[in-house]
Amino acid sequence: MEVRAFVWEKDHLLLLEQRELPHREVWLELKNHKDVAKAIKEMSVRGAPAIGCVAAYGFLLGVKLGYDPEEVYEELKYTRPTAFNLFWALDRMMNALKEGRDLEEEAKSIEREDYEANIKMGEFGNELIPNKANILTHCNTGALATAGWGTALGVIRSAHRSGKEINVWVDETRPYLQGARLTAWELMKEGIPHSVITDSTAGYLMSRGLVDLVIVGADRITARGDVANKIGTYTLSVLCKEHGIPFYVAAPHSTFDLNIESEREIPIEERSPREVKSFGECKVAPEGSPATHIAFDTTPAQNITAIITDRGVIKPVSRENVLRLFDR
Ligand code: MRU
Repeated sequence: MEVRAFVWEKDHLLLLEQRELPHREVWLELKNHKDVAKAIKEMSVRGAPAIGCVAAYGFLLGVKLGYDPEEVYEELKYTRPTAFNLFWALDRMMNALKEGRDLEEEAKSIEREDYEANIKMGEFGNELIPNKANILTHCNTGALATAGWGTALGVIRSAHRSGKEINVWVDETRPYLQGARLTAWELMKEGIPHSVITDSTAGYLMSRGLVDLVIVGADRITARGDVANKIGTYTLSVLCKEHGIPFYVAAPHSTFDLNIESEREIPIEERSPREVKSFGECKVAPEGSPATHIAFDTTPAQNITAIITDRGVIKPVSRENVLRLFDR
């Protein structure tokens, strides 16, 4: 069975509680936009495209229940600041409402289009993957982070399905452990050979010739191709530069924020220090020590070999090539 992060059920949204994975598969029943906003904020659902899809259904639920659309929009908007797909999806829903279109159809289209975009990225990305490859990835960019299949993990899935000999190094992705808990779980289900590593292992593996390429997802991409993604992504891009290893980003067109040019303009989420001071349930730092939890970092375009999108591959990564994709 294909992994699903959420399922629309006519008058409510079923959501796989990702904080319980990989140990338990618990489904939440979200009945209104407040439930959805809470699920996004508390990371029961995460990953930029999945956040966008779920927010669209949240908007639908709130408006259907008779809440003021502006209020619903605002409540969902102020959940997480970095993933552009959230704002993109909410704007689409608001426009559909203003144009008198069917909101349920619009939310379903957002979901369907995201799935199709992932399949396309898988096809384009697969052309960049050698027949035998050790691939390192960060965070979770799979079916759980999207409407299905995945972005960076979707490319890996497509390469594996096409018969290539793939081994995946899975960064555990501290502190939330999206790699160890979620990516490894998806790879296990799919039977793709992999090995979970601590985030600090990447440099050693690269220095020993054990990484052929790195592929990650994105939460927001600017007009000139700078990328925000899970904290630790920038470090990997610098390591790739040092070792001459290709560094790829895979993201659908809904992740591009063409209103901004530079990585400096991307709002970066800071989360509770408590999440850094514990490892799962286990506390690992003195109670009195302050901690900083910056959840995302930014990678400049010049560190990126290519960006794989549902509309084609951007290579080299430049303002001109990004805008060409959007017919601008
Ligand atoms: O904090 P998260 O788990 O929402 O962060 C997710 C990521 O950073 C992913 O790499 C990104 O959203 C791309 S998902 C296809």
